[in-house]
Parts: sequence; C-alpha cells; structure tokens
Amino acid sequence: MLRIEKLKKVKGNFPVLVGSNIIPKSICKILIEEISNSKSFDDMIMGGRSRINKGSKNFNNYIKQSKISKKLFKLFNSKSFYKKIENIFKKKFKNRSWENSNLPKVFNPKKFTIKKKLNSSELQKLLGNNYSNPKVNLDIDFSVSKGGYRLRPHRDDITRLYNFLIYLTDIPKKNGGSLTIYRKKTKKNIRKSFRRFPKISELEVVKEFTPRQGTVVFFQSTPNSYHGVKRFIEKNCPKRFFIYGSYALNKPVIWKFNDIPYYPHIIKTKKKMLTSFHDANYLTVPVAN
Ligand SMILES: [Fe+2]
Repeated sequence: MLRIEKLKKVKGNFPVLVGSNIIPKSICKILIEEISNSKSFDDMIMGGRSRINKGSKNFNNYIKQSKISKKLFKLFNSKSFYKKIENIFKKKFKNRSWENSNLPKVFNPKKFTIKKKLNSSELQKLLGNNYSNPKVNLDIDFSVSKGGYRLRPHRDDITRLYNFLIYLTDIPKKNGGSLTIYRKKTKKNIRKSFRRFPKISELEVVKEFTPRQGTVVFFQSTPNSYHGVKRFIEKNCPKRFFIYGSYALNKPVIWKFNDIPYYPHIIKTKKKMLTSFHDANYLTVPVAN
C-alpha cells in the first residue's frame, strides 16, 4: 500500500524525507471518496480545514465504514511501522545532530493526543514533570481543506517526534496550499532558543512542496522544524484532501543538538486552547516548575 522505500532525503536544516507516488493514485482516489462520504467532521481549524481525528467517536465510525482508510490507519498505528520510520531516519541521516534524549520503549496503539481545550497550567499538569520513560503513539487525522486554509510558520507540538503528510489531490501551483519549509536566519548566538512561532522576518524559505497526489512528506519535529502552508485558493481546482499525522510522546520531547539538551518551556496562558495551539519555546536551560 505504501512504497516507503522511495522516500528521499531533502537538503535542509532539519531531517525531511519526501517521495512522490508513495501511495498509488488508485488508492488516493478511494481515500478521497471515503473522506467525501464522511457525514461529519470533528472540527474545523485554520480557516477551512475539516478534520476527522483519531480518538473521536466520529473517527471510529469513519474507520468502520472506510475500508482503505482503515487499512492505512492500521498500518501506521503499529509499533512495527513506527520502528520502520525511525530506522529510515536513522539510516538516511547518519550524522544527524538532532536527537531525542528519551527513546520510547512502548508503543500505545490506543493512545492519542486529547483534543480538549486547556489552559497552560492544565496542560502542564497533563504532561507531568518527569519527562523520562515516555510512551509513543500515533496521532492522525483525515482532512479536507477549502479555500482560505493557511498555516503561519510554526513548529509542531512539543510532544511530537515525527510528522507526516499524505497528499491525496493534485493542487496547481497557482492555487497555493503548498507546504513550506523555513530556516531561521542565524546569528551565532541564536541557537539558545527556538520559539514556536517565530516572526516571518526571522525566517527564510528552504523549500516548497506543492501537493501532488500520492506524495508523502515525513519530517522530524525538531525545535527548528519550522513549516507552514501558503494560503490555499480554491478556484478551478479540487479541494485539498490530505492525511496528517504524527508519532508523539505522552510527554514533551527533550531534544539534543550535538549533545546539548533543549528543554521545552510552555508559555503561561489562562486561555483554553487545544494542545496543538499552545506556545512553547525550546531553551538550553531546564524547566523550573
Ligand atoms: Fe505543523
């Protein structure tokens, strides 16, 4: 179902793998049909992206009625596939400088990142103080975006190890919606901190991926893995069908760069937000709770 042996290394400042025709077009078409047939979606975010999220009742119903989505979900939601991805990254990025300090030993197929709105102290409580011995799980959503969808440059949740995108539709370049990878314009001392939402003026574009049917992108969710999506213009073109997922820990990842640890600092807020909306900075100083 997935030709992951075709994934290739992308030159950049953090580990990215990409491959075209990783998923056969015939399978993509069925996946689009299945998502289109879904009667309900769990939420809508980022100005036009409707999601069916792992963990919801809706997701369970969707998987029950959608044969190919189920097959794909089962494949990704397994320790063996997670290990496969981990090994591909290890092999392709031998001299990798970013590493996760606490390797997970247990893969929990039932677990998912909760989609509940929390303030920062509730989030802190949920994540605990001890970040060792983490477990890993799959988070995944089946998504369709209409015009207006965009994502400003950011890094993903502090619990994430690997993120992936599976594009199901061809989007012409003029319609936007491309995944853009950024690099922080560096001064020497800048590596002490990696903010979750850097200013656009602090970044420069490394690469853009126009969605192509069957293309898959995997990237390591390192503190500097800045990415975003250019505004999608739905004009004379199909909706942007895609699958988004990640392998995430049940606690924050302590990343190491050339053996220097980076600790996540969650920005305090009383505002209740989804875990994936919370701001956090990676700093070389440990967290004081
Ligand atoms: Fe993201």
